[in-house]
Amino acid sequence: MSNRGAKEMVRSVVGYPKDIIGVKLLDRTSIVGDEALQKKSYVNLHFPLEDGVLKEASEKDTQAARELIQHVISLSKPQPGDRVCGIVGVPARASISNKNQLLRITDELMSFSMVVSEPFMVAYGLNKLTNAIIIDIGAGTIDICAMKGTIPGPEEQITLMKAGNHIDSFLANAITESYPDVQITPQLAQKIKDQYGFVGQPQQDIVVNLRSGGKPRPHEITKEVQMACETIVSDIIENVEQLITTFDPEDQEEAVSNIILAGGGSRLAGLDGLLANSLQEYGQVNVVRVSDPIFSGCAGALKMATELPVDYWNQVGDVIGS
Ligand SMILES: Nc1ncnc2c1ncn2[C@@H]1O[C@H](COP(=O)(O)OP(=O)(O)OP(=O)(O)O)[C@@H](O)[C@H]1O
Ligand SMILES: [Mg+2]
Repeated sequence: MSNRGAKEMVRSVVGYPKDIIGVKLLDRTSIVGDEALQKKSYVNLHFPLEDGVLKEASEKDTQAARELIQHVISLSKPQPGDRVCGIVGVPARASISNKNQLLRITDELMSFSMVVSEPFMVAYGLNKLTNAIIIDIGAGTIDICAMKGTIPGPEEQITLMKAGNHIDSFLANAITESYPDVQITPQLAQKIKDQYGFVGQPQQDIVVNLRSGGKPRPHEITKEVQMACETIVSDIIENVEQLITTFDPEDQEEAVSNIILAGGGSRLAGLDGLLANSLQEYGQVNVVRVSDPIFSGCAGALKMATELPVDYWNQVGDVIGS
């Protein structure tokens, strides 16, 4: 999202042609986003942010991250001579070395940039800066953040590594176990989860067309979807419980009445109810989903970027540039 009205969503994947035929077909040396997935038969896919943070392993992943960020910046259509200032959300507990590596890339591409905790950006955007708990369920990580009226520190934030991608591979494996002949990939599992994902009591049987031996046939996968989606629940509850105790006792009542679910994974049907039920011993629990979960972190970052002069950004996150 940009202050000139850009609002785009890009899958964080970069594809490179496998050989000269691919280069010819693409007429480019790389492609970013959904198009790369569609053309996966002739491009090698790189997911440089797969675990929510920058992969530090290879030069190719760093290159992919650079191309991804460059592509995202181009979507905001900067004009020649513009001073580009950007905020990049990272998991709450991203390591210092990871943030620095990311800043080295953003520094090449923008005049001024900041990396900052994503759930904190969600809280900022919703103006929930005190006595609230933000649960941001992404693809690579779930980030939980206790808001206490100050910039959250390490004790107030938790990053869990089992999130949307974990559900997808669990679901793909569960389907393979139930239906060994079915051909399934994590990408296909993700599509199924995005459409049918739920936790708690099933509201309907889930039947999808899956292919075995090349032929599509209906398969019932209610149990598999439920098991996969519920793999993230107990970790969330455990860690929210732990964060509740970090509030002063007189603030705990208000904090549990302000639990906010954000990120794409917050759309799992039944999740708000299941969390509220599991936490009911803590008082008047209220769990709400943000209205635009995919963009809520981004919207908060844009709000901060427009409200707060860049000279102050270094009080909020790690910055580079001038
Ligand atoms: N309707 C839905 N039901 C369940 N999950 C969904 C739904 N829509 C999207 N998701 C999941 O949300 C995740 C993407 O959410 P989001 O865009 O918030 O993540 P991200 O910010 O890219 O990841 P991270 O925060 O880990 O870097 C994916 O795992 C996707 O499958
Ligand atoms: Mg996220």
